[in-house]
Amino acid sequence: MSTHARNIAFIGAGNMTQSIVGGMVASGYPASSVYVSNPSPGKLEKMANELQVNTSQDNAEVANKADVIVLAVKPQLMADVCAALRKDVASLSEKLIVTIAAGIRIEKYRHYLGDDIRMIRVMPNTPSLVGKGMSGLVADDRVSDVDKNYITEAFDGVGATLWVADEDELDILGAVAGSGPAYFFEFMASLQKAAVKLGFDSDKARAMVQQTALGAAEMAIASELELEDLRKQVTSKGGSTAKGIEQYQAYDIDKISADAVEAAVKRNQEMAKLF
Ligand SMILES: NC(=O)c1ccc[n+]([C@@H]2O[C@H](COP(=O)([O-])OP(=O)(O)OC[C@H]3O[C@@H](n4cnc5c(N)ncnc54)[C@H](OP(=O)(O)O)[C@@H]3O)[C@@H](O)[C@H]2O)c1
Repeated sequence: MSTHARNIAFIGAGNMTQSIVGGMVASGYPASSVYVSNPSPGKLEKMANELQVNTSQDNAEVANKADVIVLAVKPQLMADVCAALRKDVASLSEKLIVTIAAGIRIEKYRHYLGDDIRMIRVMPNTPSLVGKGMSGLVADDRVSDVDKNYITEAFDGVGATLWVADEDELDILGAVAGSGPAYFFEFMASLQKAAVKLGFDSDKARAMVQQTALGAAEMAIASELELEDLRKQVTSKGGSTAKGIEQYQAYDIDKISADAVEAAVKRNQEMAKLF
């Protein structure tokens, strides 16, 4: 990582923190500049042993040492965690605050932490846990380009990053990329069931479905063709794939996807009001 290594503190040492910190350290971020806090000691011991980062069971202790604070607790704990940080951490307004919690809007963090904070919201998705994430990012207008580049590099360690214009767009990104792995798993499971229905055993069906999904994703990434054109390229006129695709189109797959994404956006907006 080329950016100057600031002290960065992660509040919460769960799955996402472990993956992000693992990615940062693997990309060359100095472990000595990384601080992690968590109430129970097990995850801290694991991170200290495997990654040589600094750990503590005291959120305020790590936050006070940091230039950048990453809030990585479950959304329902955020209000309490922020209230304690506001009470016990000096000069919060001089630190860059980053949150990975789903749903909670920047305006709410101002209420929790003070009107003068500068903040980036990141929406990672579950494949970040295997280094293939798609993280959406949005910043308030107090965040500098240097801050943005710094956080982009941190999240590039667990996959790809995409800056969006505002929090409404982040809700849409959440409905596509955040929820997307579930849509793909649903589709993969249905293909697996189709193969099993015709006599395949489940393990073999799964092996061929998952490898096909991986191959299709890698082809899509490598190709400059539009996705629709890639689909046409592997669909010979009158062939078996064309017959299969006709079935999907009969159910209007575009409408199914549009309905799914719109329903998920609506739910993201409803959930934002809960916090
Ligand atoms: N996982 C994903 O795919 C994903 C995707 C997008 C966004 N996110 C967001 O990322 C955040 C973390 O998710 P996760 O999957 O990493 O969850 P997780 O594995 O449950 O991690 C949360 C961690 O927070 C710790 N914690 C609980 N109370 C705390 C406190 N008062 N102070 C400090 N730490 C505390 C928990 O510790 P104990 O276990 O010891 O109680 C746990 O280690 C959530 O807000 C989630 O919405 C996750």
